[in-house]
Amino acid sequence: MDHFNYRHQQLFAEEIAVTDIIQQFGTPAYIYSRATLERHWHAFNDAFGEHPHLICFAVKSNSNIALLNVMARLGSGFDIVSQGELERVLAAGGEASKVVFSGVAKSRQEITRALEVGIRCFNIESIPELKRINDVAGQLGKIAPISLRVNPDVDAHTHPYISTGLKENKFGVSVSEAREVYRFAKTLPNVKITGMDCHIGSQLTELQPFLDATDRLVVLMEQLKQDGIELHHLDLGGGLGVTYTDETPPHPTEYAAALLNKLKAYPNLEIILEPGRAITANAGILVTKVEYIKQNEDRNFAIVDTGMNDMIRPALYEAYMQIIEIDQSLVREKAVYDVVGPICETSDFLGKQRELAVAEGDLIAVRSAGAYGATMSSTYNSRPQAVEVMVDGNQAHLIKQRASFADLWRLEQLIP
Ligand code: LLP
Repeated sequence: MDHFNYRHQQLFAEEIAVTDIIQQFGTPAYIYSRATLERHWHAFNDAFGEHPHLICFAVKSNSNIALLNVMARLGSGFDIVSQGELERVLAAGGEASKVVFSGVAKSRQEITRALEVGIRCFNIESIPELKRINDVAGQLGKIAPISLRVNPDVDAHTHPYISTGLKENKFGVSVSEAREVYRFAKTLPNVKITGMDCHIGSQLTELQPFLDATDRLVVLMEQLKQDGIELHHLDLGGGLGVTYTDETPPHPTEYAAALLNKLKAYPNLEIILEPGRAITANAGILVTKVEYIKQNEDRNFAIVDTGMNDMIRPALYEAYMQIIEIDQSLVREKAVYDVVGPICETSDFLGKQRELAVAEGDLIAVRSAGAYGATMSSTYNSRPQAVEVMVDGNQAHLIKQRASFADLWRLEQLIP
């Protein structure tokens, strides 16, 4: 459920007509709904009730500091994968003590900064990384809290590019090696084992892979007990899918209930989740203007003022994202269009073969664009990125300005 609905054939974001927002801020524009974000976060947080838990919002899905600040005000934790994301969380008022740090390539600088600000946990992806963290912590006179990212080798049944829990993926340590790695970690003086984590993939629309992964981690936890290693938390990563069209992913409540049921024997084990998409995707739309209608021999094109530069998911994963009219009261003939952008690449499309009632100058929106939209955008073809607007009831706040052209080369310089 989100807060983008039609009233008298006009698309509204919460209490404001999208047309009015665009009149103020122009296109292309990402529009987010604060109420939707909060609702989705609460769906996860409330689902665990009294059981110790922490929802660590996956910053990579949307890292605008206003959005992170909305999360921070809810008391959210954060899952980060770089120092840049850490600095964003801190700039947004997030608490370092609620940050978990994932990612396969943590540099010494990143580790140092994370130790200095006192993050909750490093999610370790390899033995060399474990050694490096021990080493850096030793130099700083600190103890690094760590969790081992275990690759449970389960098939998430999702797109291969966003599936991460299989043997062949670069992430984590295999479930068969993990016990050894934990034993080794126990011998290191500057790390403290606090947890275990996994992340098997993104946009999962069924529970079973999550539950299979949990089973494998529980077996491992029991083995660790025999080695005298007791864990404080279990982090099952992100990955819960959303409805882009007709998918019916499980609700967070269902997911939490199934997890709690599996973990009945561990009432004190803190459960951490790292949801990104499930919180942000349907809390955002990308609004764009039709520049031209063009007809070829066998295709109609709606050429719009944004494309893979602002929203790369269709080009990169052939992701299907719904495209809707903003003003349905306009009298237009319906036709089937390829909705394409201004970028000089054949893969620059937002959707293919879509039935739309549009004409030149009309506004349309890509739905479910709040996750992996703005964060994956670029200025390719020297097009300034979409502005970002956060709607809060009947207020629309600009949360990212449009860059000027000079901003595009602000960090560049001529040679002498
Ligand atoms: N935790 C870790 C360690 C992750 O790698 C990810 C996503 C998440 C949490 C959050 O997953 P989510 O709840 O959002 O599914 N760009 C792709 C998605 C890449 C996901 C990468 N990792 C897309 O647009 O579909």
